[in-house]
Amino acid sequence: MTCTVKFLPHNISVAVEENESLIRAAMEAGVHINASCGGTGVCGKCRILLEEGALEGGVSEHLSGEDREKGYRLACLSQVTSDVVIRIPVESQVDTSRLNARAGGRHTAKAVYSDVDELRQDGLFIPPVEKIYLELPPATAGDNQADMARIINHLRIHHNEHRLTMNLDLIRKIPDLIRQGDFKVTATIVRPVREDGKNEIVNIEAFDTTARNFGIAVDVGTTTVYGQLLDLHTGEVLAQHGEFNSQMSYGEDVISRIMFAEKGDGLDILHQRSSKPSILSSGTSLTRPRWASMRSPPLPWRAIPP
Ligand code: FES
Repeated sequence: MTCTVKFLPHNISVAVEENESLIRAAMEAGVHINASCGGTGVCGKCRILLEEGALEGGVSEHLSGEDREKGYRLACLSQVTSDVVIRIPVESQVDTSRLNARAGGRHTAKAVYSDVDELRQDGLFIPPVEKIYLELPPATAGDNQADMARIINHLRIHHNEHRLTMNLDLIRKIPDLIRQGDFKVTATIVRPVREDGKNEIVNIEAFDTTARNFGIAVDVGTTTVYGQLLDLHTGEVLAQHGEFNSQMSYGEDVISRIMFAEKGDGLDILHQRSSKPSILSSGTSLTRPRWASMRSPPLPWRAIPP
């Protein structure tokens, strides 16, 4: 039998199989309930109020007799056995309002400013992502090297860039892009973090686009996923956005999540609900309004390989 669970004050409903755990139903509905212990019934923080219908279980020593009479239950110990209306009390909700608040300045921190151009000249600043404008020699009967080799050789000889790679998708686009730009193109190079890694040319654009260079920095935390869209020329923060890590409903701390992963299909569930949706959501939230306001098409964003 299928049961409908309605969550208030979110006003979100979800259909689940009879006997499904209420906390799983909340996860399905995308409603975050504070579940610090990952659903083991230990922390007592997943209190919910049953407003209509009936639940199986949900009673614990964390609830007083008065609480139980009022209809309070623990979500992680409750099974859905009928259509129900559930209110998430404010103490069990995850407060998202503070996520996107700007942090105040750190008055005790001492800021040290460096001149990036000077550091670059001294060889002390090597940006992990760099755009380089190239004026390539046109193809002639006497210079008939392949387009990819033309770009790589030019970067090697004129810009001292070595150990370069490109993926097949980009290689396929190069002939059109080079001719579209009349052999004037901009290459975006991503440098590896590891010493033995290779420099990857991740994008080729027609003409000089070096004035437009943006990056997204993402901090993937146990609790929150937070990202900033940055102008890589000026360091200006153009937009920032935070989301709760979607794994949080399976335990507030890493130990609780490890315990959840060891139970039944817990590991698969954590994989499915890994922080990736939060990262993508955060990245999309960062870029969409910003690109819209800049009237520029969204660009593909790439992770820097480790
Ligand atoms: S008691 Fe339910 S999540 Fe901790």
